[in-house]
Amino acid sequence: MTVTTQRSQPEIDHSTHRFETDILAGLGQPQKSIPCQYFYDEAGSLLFEQITELPEYYPTRAELSILKSCASVIAEKTEPGTALVEFGSGSSIKTDILLAACPAIEHYVPIDVSQTSLELAKERLALAFPTLRVDPVLGDFSGLVTLPVDLKDVPKLGFFPGSTIGNFGHEAAVCLLAGFRDVLGGRSRLIVGADLRKSPLILIPAYNDAAGVTAAFNLNLLVRINRELGGSFQLENFKHLATYDDVAGRINMWLVSTARQTVSVRGHVFQFEAGERIHTEISQKYGVAELQGLAAQAGWTATAVWTGTEGLFSVHEFVCAS
Ligand code: TRP
Repeated sequence: MTVTTQRSQPEIDHSTHRFETDILAGLGQPQKSIPCQYFYDEAGSLLFEQITELPEYYPTRAELSILKSCASVIAEKTEPGTALVEFGSGSSIKTDILLAACPAIEHYVPIDVSQTSLELAKERLALAFPTLRVDPVLGDFSGLVTLPVDLKDVPKLGFFPGSTIGNFGHEAAVCLLAGFRDVLGGRSRLIVGADLRKSPLILIPAYNDAAGVTAAFNLNLLVRINRELGGSFQLENFKHLATYDDVAGRINMWLVSTARQTVSVRGHVFQFEAGERIHTEISQKYGVAELQGLAAQAGWTATAVWTGTEGLFSVHEFVCAS
């Protein structure tokens, strides 16, 4: 899979002030943390595209293969004139599978924080699907999202792939799914890709690859703080760590301080002990029933689930409960 996501300008829809406030607050806690939405600047987005192609990172390949096999079933249930609404569309590569299988989809609404990604996706899809109307929405899918008004009365198919749901805690995941229901409305369906629980022997390398791309992706947070907030992080004094909490079924991503040191950001000084960790990301793995339970709390009824021949990943279909 070749993904050409060229980004020429900083695009994340957060002001520097918001970034600064969040970073200072996160580093000021007893358990230091950095909010995960800041991974995706220009360099971070390119590194993430590389992660999806790593031999150890199975989720993208597993999800693509499941989508290929279930797309025709999804297509059969899709009414003519449907609008496909994708939450966090990035390069929109997975979308092609649904669009190719589903001529009943006449509109596509990609929602993303990257203007460049939205433009590239629109350009690419216009060539591949000339009759499709593409209406990009620039914004954070976890915030307030407004769809184009003239799509108010058309049936909606929501799409939330990539196991991004796992990057939210349980409560936040329920809020997010309830928000999708509000955005999509009463006649909608929703397709969600979620990584399944499995052996740490598979999970840990997926988040700590041999080539060090995930490490570079994680450390890029510090590069970004240095560049945008005048931080003094010395990259050689921090290392990437991924751990798996078997009870919670959750990967945790950390940056570990390898020495006792101080770091300043915008005049605020933070003390690090040797071995002290900054928490940067969670990636929750969900059993099928577990995710269906969360979706039910958010007003969605499970209608189908596909886990593929290897059982590595799940693609869920839900309909609006009312
Ligand atoms: N949604 C992806 C996942 O949980 C995001 C991701 C992959 C990620 N690798 C990462 C996030 C490394 C932070 C660090 O699999």
